[in-house]
Amino acid sequence: MQLEIRPAGDGDRRQLALLFAAVAEERDGIATEPPVDVDVWAAKWRVEGTFLALADGKLVGSLSIEESRFGFGELGMAVARDWRGRGVGSALLATAIEWARERGLHKLTLSVFPHNAAAIALYRKFGFVEEGRRVKQYRRATGELWDAVEMGLLL
Ligand SMILES: CC(C)(COP(=O)(O)OP(=O)(O)OC[C@H]1O[C@@H](n2cnc3c(N)ncnc32)[C@H](O)[C@@H]1OP(=O)(O)O)[C@@H](O)C(=O)NCCC(=O)NCCS
Repeated sequence: MQLEIRPAGDGDRRQLALLFAAVAEERDGIATEPPVDVDVWAAKWRVEGTFLALADGKLVGSLSIEESRFGFGELGMAVARDWRGRGVGSALLATAIEWARERGLHKLTLSVFPHNAAAIALYRKFGFVEEGRRVKQYRRATGELWDAVEMGLLL
């Protein structure tokens, strides 16, 4: 398998939105739940700061950094279900951290659900530390209220 990590371009919007919609269907790792309007998400996707993971040319993961005006970037990412546990997330994160340093950001931050062991292990592996916890922050479609763990990496 040939894994390529590259910055996203305008032509990638639709496949990015389709992957995002598929992961949202799991109602587990990312905050967004269905329905995801793929056309709307494709149109509004911030391509700048987004990286793609392509396995033999097929989109299998993406990571986005939203730069704040204050020197930190907020990170979000997802890997296609069938491709998890094979280093795709690690490859994306390594590239993104390097990019953020080159951009002159001083910090990356993110929110993760406490049950998301794979994501928390990935972030810890790259040096992110837990900075706090927002209690009952996310109301799910079921009505459940989920905490969010805040993590950060000083660059
Ligand atoms: C979180 C996610 C991006 C990780 O991507 P991935 O490609 O599976 O990650 P990797 O294969 O690079 O694994 C990275 C590390 O995570 C850990 N890990 C992976 N899967 C794990 C699991 N199921 N349980 C515990 N730890 C796990 C390992 O420590 C691994 O490092 P190692 O291989 O050097 O030991 C992926 O699971 C995903 O997209 N989940 C759904 C969406 C989501 O939760 N996004 C993040 C929201 S904050």
